Amino acid sequence: MDFETEAKIFVTCHQGLAPWLEGEVTELGYSVRHSTPSGVALRGSLGDCIRLNLNLRCASQVLFSLGEFRCTGPDQLYRSARAIPWETILPTNGYFSVTSSVIHPTIRSTMFANVRVKDAVVDRLRKNDGSRPDCGAELSGAVVHLYWRGSSAELFLDTSGPTLAKHGYRKHPGAAPMMESLAAGTLLATRWDRRVPFINPMCGSGTLAIEAALLASNRRPGLIRHKFAFQHLIGDWKQHYTREMELLQNQLITSSLPRIIASDINPAGVEIARENAAAAGVADMIEFSVCDFRETPMPTGEPLVVFLNPEYGERLGDADELAATYTAIGDFFKRNCQNGWGYVFTGNKDLAKKIGLRTKRRLEFHTASLECRLLEFELYSGSRKNTVAD
Ligand SMILES: C[S@@+](CC[C@H](N)C(=O)[O-])C[C@H]1O[C@@H](n2cnc3c(N)ncnc32)[C@H](O)[C@@H]1O
Repeated sequence: MDFETEAKIFVTCHQGLAPWLEGEVTELGYSVRHSTPSGVALRGSLGDCIRLNLNLRCASQVLFSLGEFRCTGPDQLYRSARAIPWETILPTNGYFSVTSSVIHPTIRSTMFANVRVKDAVVDRLRKNDGSRPDCGAELSGAVVHLYWRGSSAELFLDTSGPTLAKHGYRKHPGAAPMMESLAAGTLLATRWDRRVPFINPMCGSGTLAIEAALLASNRRPGLIRHKFAFQHLIGDWKQHYTREMELLQNQLITSSLPRIIASDINPAGVEIARENAAAAGVADMIEFSVCDFRETPMPTGEPLVVFLNPEYGERLGDADELAATYTAIGDFFKRNCQNGWGYVFTGNKDLAKKIGLRTKRRLEFHTASLECRLLEFELYSGSRKNTVAD
């Protein structure tokens, strides 16, 4: 397969991350054609897909379009899928999977649509030279993705395979961890300049502190994860991959790094965070401690960014008991953090009000099951009549 020819690329992300994903894609030098709540579209080659896979922190899948076609039912799907020159794309001694996002009255189960596409691919390849690749549900080889809405369908190569939203360093999840892409998106939404100290009390398994360290040192996801679906396509992906990996290695920032301080009251959580940080290659950038969030060692006399992700009564803890914790977070910001910006990521609006400070911004994010907010507070000493709950 040719890795130079351009086509449409659609990069998917978790709901709410598109603005931050768009920023990342633009920073890499691409112009975004359009964006939706769940991704951004641009033009580029399969070589560009490799670059996007290795660099993006907020993405889930990098999809490369093989063609859009009119599709009124399963037979037309089969014919259109069979018209694609799979013999130039998928090795017959390999393995592939089909995934899909389908809303169409003729399709009750997406499994059925997947099987029609799989049959089309296999039939074409077998007719071509008598042999065929294996296929199955596990995303460990090449991946073909079908997007079908109404009378229009599009087939893509999913060049990522397993989701990019997981950045590959989490050896143990800990309790109620944030998804890595979500943590990265919330950090990109803050005013943190990657120079002033970043403080993460209630760090749990360390996702925010680790993502902060990855951002500050410009350590891109491709330096941690080494398996992608594009590695199972016909063609010279290795040349693009090797070049991009060299670039990532050369772009690492190793001096003038900011202090990153993380703490949690649960010693087991901090142990997990340390292991995850080591797997991410940033263990020496984070100062961990076991303590109540109010006892977190704070640098004095310089601006700070303080970011907390307290429990919010959905999975852990009880909302009533948490009210006192949220009030204490407001007191902590007032007393211990007097220069910079404070952030609280929570999925519970009522608990958020207990913080008792006026928010500067409220940004919407989503976890798998819940609409959440990133609340921003300006931190300063003295009083500026800032104790208005909103
Ligand atoms: C929602 S979890 C944080 C998850 C984290 N963002 C991650 O990705 O793993 C909340 C954390 O707050 C910690 N915690 C609860 N009360 C605390 C307190 N008073 N002081 C310090 N940590 C506390 C819990 O141990 C838990 O690890």
